Amino acid sequence: MICLLFGPPGSGKGTQAELLTAALGVPHVSTGDLLRAEAAAGTALGRGVAPLLAAGELVPDELMQQVLEQRLRAPDAARGAILDGYPRTVRQARALDACLARTGRRVDVVLVLGVDETTLIGRLVHRAAEQHRADDNPASIAERLAGYRQLTEPVIDYYRGKGVPVLEANGTGDVDTVHRRTVRALESAGVA
Ligand code: AP5
Repeated sequence: MICLLFGPPGSGKGTQAELLTAALGVPHVSTGDLLRAEAAAGTALGRGVAPLLAAGELVPDELMQQVLEQRLRAPDAARGAILDGYPRTVRQARALDACLARTGRRVDVVLVLGVDETTLIGRLVHRAAEQHRADDNPASIAERLAGYRQLTEPVIDYYRGKGVPVLEANGTGDVDTVHRRTVRALESAGVA
């Protein structure tokens, strides 16, 4: 089971992916979390990507492909994964498809969380006050939103064009309400 989770920054991808691990029986793989862990640990990779993370800019595709492929080789991902934050460009999507094809796998389903911009910004501003994530500031939030619209939304169309089921769930409301919607959407497509 390879499930891709899409949605603009603050739409709740990480929150919902974590809750969906039980329903789908596969781990949550967040490229943002992987990069933040590298940055926090001060590894060479982390030092290299930290300025990009803080500015809300994308890490180069080739580097992301290595990070993701290494994570997907871990034993817990043998049965699949819920990918949160990857692929973010059509180039990354093509690389992911090629990587999965090498082990006889493919993307099974795409789930898109829809949230209006006022709500997104409200959530990120709230998190900024509580957690001080480097990219939860107005300039980086604007950059991440623009990047999502320009580079990541076309990835959804790319998968639609390939015949992969693309499910949409309203991401506004409390966390449990959104979770119930995502499970219903996945059940209706026969994947949960
Ligand atoms: P990433 O970590 O993927 O950040 P993002 O896409 O900007 O998304 P967020 O983590 O901000 O939001 P989310 O949708 O996961 O929502 P969350 O559940 O956290 O990427 C960070 C950076 O890494 C990128 O900018 C880039 O630099 C780099 N990167 C990562 N992947 C890359 C790739 N493939 N290629 C290149 N570069 C890459 O929720 C947000 C907040 O809202 C939380 O505080 C949460 O508690 C709250 N919340 C969630 N749901 C609700 C709800 N229903 N009601 C109220 N509050 C809620």
